[in-house]
Amino acid sequence: MNNIKSRIDKLRKELHQHNYNYYVKASPVISDREFDRMMEELMALEGEHPEWDDVNSPSKRVGSDVTKGFEQVAHRYAMLSLMNSYSTEEVGEFWGRVSRGLGDEQFELVCELKYDGSGIALIYEEGRLVRAVTRGDGRVGDDVTANVRTIRNIPLVLEGEDVPAWVELRGEIVMEWGVFEELNERRAAAGEQLLANPRNATAGTLKLLDSRVVAERKLTSYIYYMLGDDLPSDSHYENMERARAWGFNVSDATRRCGSMEEVQEYLTHWDAERVHLPVATDGVVIKVDSLAQQRALGATSKAPRWAVAYKFETEQAVTRLEGVTYQVGRTGAVTPVAELEPVLLSGTTVRRASLYNEDAMEALDLHLGDRVFVEKGGEIIPKIVAVDVEARFMVGDRLRFAKRCPECGAELVRLEGEAIHYCPNSAGCPPQIRGKVEHFVARRAMDIAMGPETVALLFSEGLIGDVAGLYDLQFAQLANLDRWGETSARNLLASIEASKEVPFERVLFALGIRFVGETVAQKLAAAFSDMDALASASVEELMAVDEIGVRIAESVRAWMEVSENRALIERLRSAGVQLKVSEAALAERSDKLEGKTVVISGRFTEHSRDEYKAMIVQHGGKNTGSVSRRTDYLLAGEGMGPKKKQQAEELGVTVLTEQEFLSLISE
Ligand code: IVH
Repeated sequence: MNNIKSRIDKLRKELHQHNYNYYVKASPVISDREFDRMMEELMALEGEHPEWDDVNSPSKRVGSDVTKGFEQVAHRYAMLSLMNSYSTEEVGEFWGRVSRGLGDEQFELVCELKYDGSGIALIYEEGRLVRAVTRGDGRVGDDVTANVRTIRNIPLVLEGEDVPAWVELRGEIVMEWGVFEELNERRAAAGEQLLANPRNATAGTLKLLDSRVVAERKLTSYIYYMLGDDLPSDSHYENMERARAWGFNVSDATRRCGSMEEVQEYLTHWDAERVHLPVATDGVVIKVDSLAQQRALGATSKAPRWAVAYKFETEQAVTRLEGVTYQVGRTGAVTPVAELEPVLLSGTTVRRASLYNEDAMEALDLHLGDRVFVEKGGEIIPKIVAVDVEARFMVGDRLRFAKRCPECGAELVRLEGEAIHYCPNSAGCPPQIRGKVEHFVARRAMDIAMGPETVALLFSEGLIGDVAGLYDLQFAQLANLDRWGETSARNLLASIEASKEVPFERVLFALGIRFVGETVAQKLAAAFSDMDALASASVEELMAVDEIGVRIAESVRAWMEVSENRALIERLRSAGVQLKVSEAALAERSDKLEGKTVVISGRFTEHSRDEYKAMIVQHGGKNTGSVSRRTDYLLAGEGMGPKKKQQAEELGVTVLTEQEFLSLISE
């Protein structure tokens, strides 16, 4: 008995962790299938043992991606998940359940592709997009309207017949493979950690606080469901046709099926064809077409009974584990990598697989020489999903996580509560130095025209030992390098010279302080104006800055405490790098909007939206995406929805025209 209880506890604990990895950190360490199996086991045990029921069991919810920084909005219709199935037999069982549930009434099914991104709810009032909300925990999600507005194939205004006064469209936001690969290339160049798959990239992008960056990421969408009291048709299929006519991107790969044979045909076809699609799909969703029948079938607390997901078989291969190596990133994070006997998987030869971190590695219980199963799924980097324990004989020792940095020999540290090991030797560990320089020179940082090969060359030639070393480079040193000429040398020096004009907030970002990304760097530069003020700020003073939490504050403080870092700042200062906000930028600042929250809506004539956003920050205010009780001003441009204006008036928010806003800040 106690065994069962402890099994339940263990499953609950592990599933909580996996939920967190998946929904919050957007970096899962086990496959969806493995997750489903654990959840199934837990639910079965809980079903048999109601005495150990717990409202907080992971079986009672569907995960949450709610992050602070976004307003939380309750869904009018809960965003449920789908029941999963992995074989035609299981889909056949679904057919049987539907049939019985409908008392043998006739029904049709609609087969659609299951797009692998982030689910989204789009609310339209009077034909205008008023809100876009993430799934969150299914009941409450994040209001990401400002970000979603940047997605080109989501119509902001619906055109055509039958547009209901209120309608909700559900769909998936995804990132195309090509865009994803480009993004990862840029991240690699900036020394940032690579994103595992387009799903994580999409989830991360939707949660960015700066919608300008979101716009650059070129997300796309597929719409697959419609909700409301007043829909055009009782048929889901017809409603999707109508949604297409209104301007939504509805997949062409949708088919109405009247028999299990047709469903089977669809599954077989797309199992093979999906590799040619521009976006990641992880299965097929099969839905009862009639909305009246959908209502009759209803839903459990987790998923509708009128739909099921068929998950594509992810291709697996068996190979042998030859060893483990470690990659050291620019922040010193150490990632274990499995070295495999080369094996063919989904058309490419796999030689390595990510092992993520010590816990994930321990969970696999790897021994040198083990036969392991590798899977590619939606991931670019393959992963080991299991060890063939039966085949284990005469294998080597159990693999343990390294104690020392494989690159520089320093003793590794693992901070409490974190899964990742760090090499603390940030000033002397070669890959960390190279990584820091790559980040420093990146386009959005100091914008110095040099790629990773050049960084590696200058480092190996002993010409640079850290980022400040770039400013000591001499023409003769560069021109004498192998396969370099005078032109390349001159170009690089000119580019380094130009970087001395890069504004302080980007210099701050370029330093690569942990947790100080572009947005945080802007906030810090706005609050402290110069490096000396920032360097002497206490954790409390740092935390007083809007959106700077304890984690960031402590990281900045810790960085400033290190004497090498202080020396680095002094060398950058003597090189002429901008360590304070320029006079011109300061002159344009004021505190006229201190403590005020401003929402921007509509089109403008004097300045662009981005310029208005920058002005709000320059004058001490805060720009948010949607009108709420906390909003002080609504900066209303042309073509703003009447609803928004009405909402603002109801909440007592002051509505400002462009001219009124400009005179307010120049008073
Ligand atoms: S229907 C109540 N259709 O898969 C029905 N979902 O695992 C809800 N998804 O949360 C969803 N493609 O984010 C539906 N063609 C499709 C889909 C789809 C992808 C996602 C969706 C959902 C998740 C469930």
